Amino acid sequence: MRHLMSPLDFTVEELDSLFDLASDIEQNMPKYAHACQGKKLASCFYEPSTRTRLSFESAMLNLGGDVIGFSDASSSSASKGESVSDTIRVISCFADICAMRHPKEGAPMVAASRSSIPVINAGDGGHQHPTQTLTDLLTIRSLKGHIEHFTIGLCGDLKFGRTVHSLIHALVRYPKIHFIFISPEELKVPSYITDMLKEKQIPYEEVIRLEEIMPRLDFLYMTRVQRERFFNEDDYVRLKDFYILNKEKMKLAKQDMLILHPLPRVNEISVEVDDDPRAAYFKQVQYGVYVRMALILTLLDIHV
Ligand code: NCD
Repeated sequence: MRHLMSPLDFTVEELDSLFDLASDIEQNMPKYAHACQGKKLASCFYEPSTRTRLSFESAMLNLGGDVIGFSDASSSSASKGESVSDTIRVISCFADICAMRHPKEGAPMVAASRSSIPVINAGDGGHQHPTQTLTDLLTIRSLKGHIEHFTIGLCGDLKFGRTVHSLIHALVRYPKIHFIFISPEELKVPSYITDMLKEKQIPYEEVIRLEEIMPRLDFLYMTRVQRERFFNEDDYVRLKDFYILNKEKMKLAKQDMLILHPLPRVNEISVEVDDDPRAAYFKQVQYGVYVRMALILTLLDIHV
């Protein structure tokens, strides 16, 4: 039995097969409409979510399966003091696969160690968000045709943004990726990540101003300042609008640069950018459903 805790749980070759399956699903949806008939997904969200939860749920429904679960810790037995280990042992009796989001780093890993069904980490605190990374990689592959040889700028809250942490870990396994980290001093990418890049001799730069590096980017990955992980509201207020991508700044970008964002967006991308053909963040949401369908089939070992 396999779980998904980190994007590194799959080899690059396994990811290629997963993305091939996701692309086949995109082109031949009806073929998969009954693949998970009789199977249930438990969607256990201890932290707010719109996209990830509904994306998992619609993925399972698209496969002909059913969904049970909760979208708020306060409506689960966690509010009575039940541990994640006990909850997953109970859920293992009800469902065939579980997607879990939790505010505590490592909670889905604890669940996986006690579970008799596959557990998918749907985001654990400021740590990892592997299915967002699968979404990001499938988007890059589908829109550019390959995952190699590009310069990617990651901009915003690189300290608390778990999607950024997962994506960097995943991208270092592909050839010739150059990272540019764009953040205020207070929200720099954690040192355990830059140490890993140094050790692997992967090139990266850290800058504060977006404008100065914009013309060099093939991808710009924008992120929201993660208010819920700040200790102090004043710091959040000071940093929240540090970057606002608008039409003016887009004039500096290459004609084929793509803008990605895991969403939700707050102010960091002005709505006037949405009509720019380089804005790929809503397409990214659609790829998220295909890749989660492929993931559910793979972890349940179902072949169509
Ligand atoms: C992200 C998350 O939850 O980490 N959202 C998502 O799942 N697409 C990003 C965020 O909340 O900023």
